[in-house]
Amino acid sequence: MNTTLFQKDFISTQDWSTDELESVLDLAIRLKQDHGDGVAHDHVLQAKTLYMLFFEESTRTRNSFETGMTQLGGHAIFLTPKATQIDHGENAKDTGMVLSSYGDGIAVRDSRTAIGQRYLYEMAEHAAAPVISMQDDVDHPCQAMADLMSLRELFGRDLRGRKFVVSWTYAPKYVRPLSVPQSLVMLMPRFGVDVTLAYPEGYHLMPEVMETARANATAAGVALEEVHDMDAAFEDADFVYPKSWGPIMVTEDPAEVEAMAADNRSWRATAARMSLAKPHAAYMHCMPVDRGHEADDDVIDGPQSVIYRQAENRLHVQKALMALTMSGAT
Ligand code: CP
Repeated sequence: MNTTLFQKDFISTQDWSTDELESVLDLAIRLKQDHGDGVAHDHVLQAKTLYMLFFEESTRTRNSFETGMTQLGGHAIFLTPKATQIDHGENAKDTGMVLSSYGDGIAVRDSRTAIGQRYLYEMAEHAAAPVISMQDDVDHPCQAMADLMSLRELFGRDLRGRKFVVSWTYAPKYVRPLSVPQSLVMLMPRFGVDVTLAYPEGYHLMPEVMETARANATAAGVALEEVHDMDAAFEDADFVYPKSWGPIMVTEDPAEVEAMAADNRSWRATAARMSLAKPHAAYMHCMPVDRGHEADDDVIDGPQSVIYRQAENRLHVQKALMALTMSGAT
């Protein structure tokens, strides 16, 4: 085990070198294989505690972290602002210092616009235990790592020349954060993938994130392009990742958000669009997927869909991350 990662925070993949991220992927693959073979790893985090602080709802993230802690022999405690003194104004420093004096890791989901990632970094500055992001307003690093693991399982370690499409889609109901598309455009180029980002006017990502993504693509010698046509984006793709996000760079006013989305209802993953991609192309989504809006059922449930693989890989990637950052064992 790589002990240099012991107690290292994991808030953005940008904070970790490519070699460090490779060690997470290597361990995740081994843990997945062992899990399938019935090989237990319940000694790795024996008697260790992870605090999981959620400012927002979750199905996959909460349950994969909590299950992962159980499988590694530790214990996870679910917290919300309301269940703690955060709702009464206790700040990130005080919360982080106290929790890390009891336990061995703090995982936080805080996607509040312009607040979330700053909250995580502030907590990490003061906490004596590693802080792991379970998603913030900028990045969803565990999701992107699980997705990268899925790409490699499908097409092998060498992803050079593969076209990965992140496309906006229509979805009503609520405004989804920018963190998933942003985590993907920053991470995938570092591992040799050509990335195409497609979105209608007003749905651009944070300029500083795009700057980072472009720098990563240049350093890796791969392509990163932005287009405003979903069909053009899907052409010859190896992976398509159509999902909704809010026009957060323009407005979060509910009426304006609804009107902007309504103008772009045709941005949906359909069988016709899938036929524009390569025949072997994978349909990807971080879930929850809004059926009938973001994508049609025949795409979500079709032979090219890998969404359940992505969801499962959250468990293995996070177990690897927790083992590497929360255990000093070699
Ligand atoms: N993909 C993801 O983070 O799912 P949850 O919101 O259910 O955790």
